[in-house]
Amino acid sequence: MTVKIGVLASGRGSNLQSIIDSVESGFISGAKIAVVLSDKKDAFALERARKHGIDALHIDPKGYDGREEYDKALLWELKERDVGLVLLAGYMRIVSKTLIKAYKNRMMNIHPALLPSFPGLHAQKQALDYGAKVSGCTVHFVDAEVDHGPIIAQAAVPVHEGDGEDSLSARILEQEHIIYPQAVKWFVEGKIEVEGRRVRIEGVRQAGISVRT
Ligand code: GRF
Repeated sequence: MTVKIGVLASGRGSNLQSIIDSVESGFISGAKIAVVLSDKKDAFALERARKHGIDALHIDPKGYDGREEYDKALLWELKERDVGLVLLAGYMRIVSKTLIKAYKNRMMNIHPALLPSFPGLHAQKQALDYGAKVSGCTVHFVDAEVDHGPIIAQAAVPVHEGDGEDSLSARILEQEHIIYPQAVKWFVEGKIEVEGRRVRIEGVRQAGISVRT
């Protein structure tokens, strides 16, 4: 059975692209990206989707009375297409209970830090300002708290002397494009089991990688 994927994105969509490429190359098989939804009309993610023949919709939050109502509209679009896995990929809105409940352990997010360190905005800058020597990225299931749900995969990268937000972000982003498709592949293959905060992946001993660059 094909797993239908729905992606929520607000910006440039490089993570979306890594998922598109992984589906097209067959790295992720048995899945189809059914729709990309964005709160931002000019999100480059929408363009990327359309280029690959994927339904791409801008749904304007201004047309809805609050977060719950907006998320109900998103949920309708997702259900309409029988979406079984939702991916947040640079999605800049807080997701409400409506969506979280509907997609419990079926909605993933990617965050550019090693959670639980540096949740929230500007994670790379937070890591630099804190003086961290190692940072990275995390794929996790979405729960009611921001950047908090059960961790599926992580990659660690060094912070270099002289790094700025841009150079550290680029080093981290390279790993995001590896671990997000990997996590999706595991999900699609039915290998992920969640027990409380713990995520087990069938046949995988190590869902964390450490990169020396
Ligand atoms: C990524 O760094 C991701 O970790 C964070 O937002 C950024 C989105 O980048 N959640 P892109 O839109 O996928 O290129």
